[in-house]
Amino acid sequence: MSAPDDSYKATWNARSTSLADGMLAVDGSADEDVLARTGAYAAVQLRAALAPGPGQHLFEIGCGVGRLGAQLAPEVASWTGLDIAENMVALSRQRLAGVPGARAFALAGPNLAPLAEASMDKGWCVAVFIHMDKEDMVLYLREVARVLRPGGLFYFDHWNLAHPVGWRRFAYEVDEIGRSDPAQRKDVARNQFCTPEELRLYVRHAGLELLFEHSDSPWVQMVVRRPDGDAAAALTEQARLEAARTAIACTPLWTRLFAEACEVLIEGVHPATMLARWRSLPETGPELPMFIAWLAAVWQRQPQRWPALPA
Ligand SMILES: C[S@@+](CC[C@H](N)C(=O)[O-])C[C@H]1O[C@@H](n2cnc3c(N)ncnc32)[C@H](O)[C@@H]1O
Repeated sequence: MSAPDDSYKATWNARSTSLADGMLAVDGSADEDVLARTGAYAAVQLRAALAPGPGQHLFEIGCGVGRLGAQLAPEVASWTGLDIAENMVALSRQRLAGVPGARAFALAGPNLAPLAEASMDKGWCVAVFIHMDKEDMVLYLREVARVLRPGGLFYFDHWNLAHPVGWRRFAYEVDEIGRSDPAQRKDVARNQFCTPEELRLYVRHAGLELLFEHSDSPWVQMVVRRPDGDAAAALTEQARLEAARTAIACTPLWTRLFAEACEVLIEGVHPATMLARWRSLPETGPELPMFIAWLAAVWQRQPQRWPALPA
């Protein structure tokens, strides 16, 4: 009997054999409306971080079903989605079929082989580095330094171990692993966590310069640049990013709602209780309707996770 294939490729291909499964793997909802809401929210952050323009060539590492490509590809000259899973690539091609300049390729490993040296203006990687070993993330960051044109920008995020809510999310993973069979290999797609300090080291050793960091949430968000020796241009970009901090950053409300979502998903609070609480909140802005739609979709998809409500 051959050993089970627990590579990134096999694991993520198995999670994307249908559009519903692919969407589920991407944002946990399997619902186009929720995917569009969470995608639109992240796209606002990406626009603020990267200032993408109509003539620019952008790429995405771990494009999934094209949740973010669908938002940004129509605004730029080209968008190249890259993913380890051929099934994800097929789904993103299908969902972006009508968008000129949108293309997607499967990766063979932690390299950006489909992209030529210095061919990209900008790129991003959202909710992907959290699902791989650090060595692979550093290999990708080195590749980012190769494919960006000098002065090009790259945005990425990672779970933030140094934030109390980030730690709480990590502690859940620790407890799960503590309960699992020690003879089994750990899931290659599991959530992994970093401190901001660690990420700064990876960026620097990959040959990139850090222009922006926001770490006051369960996510570390960074914008990095391929150096070109133009210190004045780097400073101008840094000032632009600082002015855009509020739009790039994960907001305090997002952090609070995420912490409360953890109470439902990890600590057993019933979704009905949380939805009632959330629906009574006065907050305005995109976060609250997005979390309400997302939690309602998660509950609808997996009702068996919580006790049935009295009729
Ligand atoms: C949670 S989804 C996020 C998808 C997309 N970035 C988004 O935000 O909608 C993670 C994606 O990363 C891809 N992925 C996982 N490990 C990878 C790796 N080692 N190299 C490239 N892609 C990977 C998965 O196939 C999946 O499409």
